Amino acid sequence: MTASYRLSSLCITTSIFSSHGTRQMKVRLTGFGGLSTFIRPPLHRLKSTPCALSSSVLFSSSSPPASQSHQVPLFLRVPKYATPVSDLQKWYSWASDLAASVGSTFLVSDNGPDSSLLCRELRWLLEDALQEDIDPSLIHQVGVNSAQREVNLKTGIEDLYKLWIQRIEERRPFQYIVGCEHWRDLVLCVQEGVLIPRPETEIIIDLVADVISSNRVLKEGFWADLGTGSGAIAIGTARALGGCGTVIATDLSPVAVKVASFNVQRYGLQGVVEVREGSWFEPLKDVQGKLAGLVSNPPYIPSENIPGLQAEVGRHEPKLALDGGVDGMDHLLHLCQGAASMLRTGGFFALETNGEKQSKLILDYMEKEHRGTFYNAKAVPDFAGVLRFVTAFRV
Ligand SMILES: C[S@@+](CC[C@H](N)C(=O)[O-])C[C@H]1O[C@@H](n2cnc3c(N)ncnc32)[C@H](O)[C@@H]1O
Repeated sequence: MTASYRLSSLCITTSIFSSHGTRQMKVRLTGFGGLSTFIRPPLHRLKSTPCALSSSVLFSSSSPPASQSHQVPLFLRVPKYATPVSDLQKWYSWASDLAASVGSTFLVSDNGPDSSLLCRELRWLLEDALQEDIDPSLIHQVGVNSAQREVNLKTGIEDLYKLWIQRIEERRPFQYIVGCEHWRDLVLCVQEGVLIPRPETEIIIDLVADVISSNRVLKEGFWADLGTGSGAIAIGTARALGGCGTVIATDLSPVAVKVASFNVQRYGLQGVVEVREGSWFEPLKDVQGKLAGLVSNPPYIPSENIPGLQAEVGRHEPKLALDGGVDGMDHLLHLCQGAASMLRTGGFFALETNGEKQSKLILDYMEKEHRGTFYNAKAVPDFAGVLRFVTAFRV
């Protein structure tokens, strides 16, 4: 249980594997103990950015059976559940009491969410569940008018009870409850079986944007996001490329491949991002030695630390996305080694790590095992100054 993934979600520098706090709340460290918090933009604004997917795309007769398809995030569902406001108010009051009863119990036991964070999540859940033109503050209105009115919800009231019990009693991550996560300027669909993208990882897109800003060859080339999960890095990279290059996103997990494909489609990037299923470089044989860039946030938690993870993470997020072997280095070293044969001359790579120790181990490995293969190899800090990423260029 190292601090790097056990600390409070509000401290993004150390919350790499703390599940909560990334969504709807963009947190940036401004100095030790000094956080500036950006409250999430309203969903209706963000929802206009991606391509509108018609329900025929989501539920076409050619869609895979429900068990194999992705879950539709709450905010994208049709508000078809007419519900008396008084029932919604009763639910909200019950859910607030349940959140308040948690106090700091989870925080103390495994650095989980405290009741104030849970109450914030409850407000976001309400926002996502309500039809867009309804003001969520109706929940606090008293009087006959509001109590008699009906609102349309995106799920039934009994489901809201069930979801909130899952959140508190099972510690199911909030992002899985609502089915999405806010990441950079994206709202990405997520569900069980797919890692919830973390704010730290957002920096990878800045690193990509930086190298392509002065290098047209890299901007127009093939990029690969290995272990794409929700597709976050692949989609962010494709948008940074601005329609010039191509991104291949791979994952071993069939659920991740489905969810990433959905997210790619939602942002209208089908022609730019190709999602492939398979292990690391195996689905990339056709682009061996041709990649302009390789980016990855692979599993890097040492196996022995998995049982000590915050409940939201350890119980609910996929082990495949977390476990990096005995010292957490298995996949990082494999990717570093593969980068040597996959990248073209001048090609760039960026890997996310657990922090300084792993970053330095990779740099040592490159120096000892791949001397003369890479140049400008360095560890790059995250928002808090932790050496989180390793970047280099292929000679
Ligand atoms: C830490 S998660 C990162 C997910 C996503 N890139 C992100 O940053 O949110 C690691 C990802 O690697 C995938 N993965 C694990 N082993 C893999 C393998 N052998 N080949 C390809 N992907 C793998 C997992 O399924 C998971 O999606």
